[in-house]
Amino acid sequence: MESIYKSDVVIVGSGISGLTVAISLYPRKVTLVTKRKLGEMSSSAWAQGGIAAAVSEEDSPQKHFEDTIKVSAGLSDENSVKEITEKAVSVVNFLEKIGVIFDREKGELSLSKEAAHSQRRVLKVNGDQSGKFIVEKLINYARKLGHITFVENVSIDHITKNNNNECTGVIGHIHQDQIVDNIVFFQAPNVILATGGIGSIYAYTTNPRDVYGEGISLAATAGAELVDLEFVQFHPTALDIGVDPNPLLTEAIRGEGATLVDENNNRFMKKIHALSDLAPRDIVSRAIHDLKMQGHSTFLDCRKFNSNTFKKLFPTADKYLKNANINVEKELIPIIPAAHYHMGGTKVNMDGMTSINGLWACGETSSTGAHGANRLASNSLLEAFVYAIRIARKINSLPIKNYAIRSINIKNYLPKEKTISKVRAKKYIWQLRSTMNKFVGVERSDKTLNNAFVEFDKIEREAKNLSAKLKDMLLVSRLITFAAKLRKESRGTHYRTDFPNMNTNYNQRKVLNINDLNSFLSEKEYDKKVVNE
Ligand code: SIN
Repeated sequence: MESIYKSDVVIVGSGISGLTVAISLYPRKVTLVTKRKLGEMSSSAWAQGGIAAAVSEEDSPQKHFEDTIKVSAGLSDENSVKEITEKAVSVVNFLEKIGVIFDREKGELSLSKEAAHSQRRVLKVNGDQSGKFIVEKLINYARKLGHITFVENVSIDHITKNNNNECTGVIGHIHQDQIVDNIVFFQAPNVILATGGIGSIYAYTTNPRDVYGEGISLAATAGAELVDLEFVQFHPTALDIGVDPNPLLTEAIRGEGATLVDENNNRFMKKIHALSDLAPRDIVSRAIHDLKMQGHSTFLDCRKFNSNTFKKLFPTADKYLKNANINVEKELIPIIPAAHYHMGGTKVNMDGMTSINGLWACGETSSTGAHGANRLASNSLLEAFVYAIRIARKINSLPIKNYAIRSINIKNYLPKEKTISKVRAKKYIWQLRSTMNKFVGVERSDKTLNNAFVEFDKIEREAKNLSAKLKDMLLVSRLITFAAKLRKESRGTHYRTDFPNMNTNYNQRKVLNINDLNSFLSEKEYDKKVVNE
């Protein structure tokens, strides 16, 4: 059975960026498609840190700009950084208008300090529950406006285009009842991808399991340009107790004085960076990774906190620790770096448009250049808001297109063969995630990247008929690994043990597309190298 929705704008994803763009398009009629219930399984709702904004008297957008540029290791787009840091206060005003109540102390906004910020500038809601409360407010506000058609429980499988490289819609399937041929065609000249990042292609991640790069896979398959894919940020303090995904222990805990130690209570960061435990994330993650490789254990030490104070400041972390039977006042907390945020993604311009006319992207799916090779903490929600609003403003300035309903030939979009069972898919998905962690993780080299390609081929061969999810994950993993191979230097979150220094020959952002990957794969160079080693 085929259903057709015709509208002017279709938004895919219901995290902060998807909801914000939908709200900001008011009163233009839009359709918002989401895989689960609204807001469910989005990284946004799990965000603990909050929103970075220069709101204190000592601070300024210029200082925020400088901190962002410094952390980005020479690869950010200054226009983009300027835009997000200058618009931060208007984003805070927008959120207060829709009912978000930021934490205050004696009437003043209470601001957290996070890694590599020169000022206290992170606004939060109920301690570490910013994402949860902001998403709730956005959903309530979006529902009231009345211009949005919400369609839940639909997975998007294809982007459709015409011969002029213009986007004409998206095709998906309703997955609630497992009926494969329940195809839905969302016909629209404007499609906005807002499906989040890629964390779950890694074995250790702080992201929900639905966050595995669907947007990148869709955009890549449609031929869109991608950029900065090699830059994956690992959060240094994910709770390491064998739970998948790894519960995040917000950086703000260190901002309030918690420290990092090894099994001998040695504060290892002191020797590594002047900012010690609050050094940029890539440096802290690498330090922890190296210690673990040498057989050490690594911990977050929160023993200086009184348990009630800890619970008040960090209710989410407190719940995770209680579930793990860890007593913050008495015990060290085991931690591991986990894939947390992707600076790379679908390349967009200042209006959020991709290289395909009518295809837009925002939030973690996109790469605006605001983060470069490394993201400053709590700049991600800020960027998501700023660009979602920019996309809406641009689309609202365009005339509504009048076009005829177009039928599609469903047979072209049904899987040709039966896909593998969920149980088998799970096994290969785990194999893939472990490969990414082992070979394309905090540290990489030509050798490990070649090994990753060989493993990807093996997974594809053995799994035979891939599930849609496994197919997306494989494509995104190959794209990231390919980008990591091309950058023969170390910069920001991309650390190559075979090229440990930054190299000015690589001062540009690396743009690539699916054809580049396919020609690389067809040569099978990596296979020859692994065989010869
Ligand atoms: C955190 O709370 O540590 C995460 C904040 C962020 O990733 O920006």
